[in-house]
Amino acid sequence: MQAQAESRHSSEGGGRAVRLRSFGGPEALEVHQVPAPGAGPGQVRVRVTAAGLNPMDWVMTADADTAARFGLTLPVGFGTDYAGVIDQVGEGVTGFAPGDRVFGGALSRAVADLVVVDARGDTAADEVHHTPEGVDDRTAATLTIAGRTAAAALAALGSGSGSGSGSGAQSNPGLGLGPDDTVLIGGAGGGVGVFAVQLARIAGARVIGTGSAASADHLHSLGAEPVTYGDGLTDRVRALAPEGITAALDLHGVDTVHAARELGVPDARICTIAAQIEGVPAANGANAAPGALEEIAALIAAGRLRVPVAATFPIDEIRRATELQAARHVRGKVVIDL
Ligand SMILES: NC(=O)c1ccc[n+]([C@@H]2O[C@H](COP(=O)([O-])OP(=O)(O)OC[C@H]3O[C@@H](n4cnc5c(N)ncnc54)[C@H](OP(=O)(O)O)[C@@H]3O)[C@@H](O)[C@H]2O)c1
Repeated sequence: MQAQAESRHSSEGGGRAVRLRSFGGPEALEVHQVPAPGAGPGQVRVRVTAAGLNPMDWVMTADADTAARFGLTLPVGFGTDYAGVIDQVGEGVTGFAPGDRVFGGALSRAVADLVVVDARGDTAADEVHHTPEGVDDRTAATLTIAGRTAAAALAALGSGSGSGSGSGAQSNPGLGLGPDDTVLIGGAGGGVGVFAVQLARIAGARVIGTGSAASADHLHSLGAEPVTYGDGLTDRVRALAPEGITAALDLHGVDTVHAARELGVPDARICTIAAQIEGVPAANGANAAPGALEEIAALIAAGRLRVPVAATFPIDEIRRATELQAARHVRGKVVIDL
């Protein structure tokens, strides 16, 4: 126990990291002791304290073809969202110093005691931001992929009547919604949904969110009016909003898109992140407006947005954590503590 604690806290002794020696499901995830990576020119090394999971983590590492699309080769790490403290700064880095609290993205290598990232990177694959006062590390570790994706998806809804910019979007100028909108969000209680619902509410929109019946209280607590997904969704939404809905986000599959179309929402005001549907804009976190992540962090620091963390696990329980995430019924986020 003592030996493990020492190796965990001495950077030069390396640290723990989740590794896969073959692509596959949770059973392929192993915790190894690995040498400490060093921060090269333009890079910082972060002592990770928390790593948030996303579906992308296990999708990317499930098979060789998918991994190759993301440039991943074996042996490969796991997880992308992290938060922690900088403990080494490479040559030429400005704006970051040892001891700074940070969060960001490190593509498929974040569930580890030490990660190295490009200090000037600007995608979830490789990025670092200062963690504002008032945002704890577990929360900071949930922001990068889900926060960016929610911001990109909302922005993709564009500017329909009464929407977004200038009409009450307040500190979220990129949002494509406003006080005259009623938006249907499918999969509203999941990792991306918790951000999308609250950002839409901050923009002034009325939000109807789909979930299982058991998620109704969770959805209410985020500011959404819950409606159960499944057969009859269109009728249930019509009953809740007889005056109609003006926009829709599908964060799960295709059902919310179909319901929105049946309810007369034009394709330009529908967005999906989890399927390709001809005619419907698809959003990707990589396309979020510059600064979207900082805006979300600032909203959290100001107490205007919160991230429900459904469960936390120590790194040794990475398989159990991933199984929970992959079951696709998490309310909010799953975080690994390091
Ligand atoms: N394009 C991108 O850049 C991007 C980025 C991030 C994620 N994604 C994709 O977007 C999707 C959502 O990501 P996430 O992190 O939010 O996932 P998640 O956290 O796993 O989503 C879980 C949520 O899905 C809900 N759900 C389960 N079955 C549903 C159904 N039949 N209809 C509607 N909702 C259902 C669950 O609600 P209940 O618990 O109430 O059942 C739960 O709240 C994933 O497919 C992910 O791969 C894409």
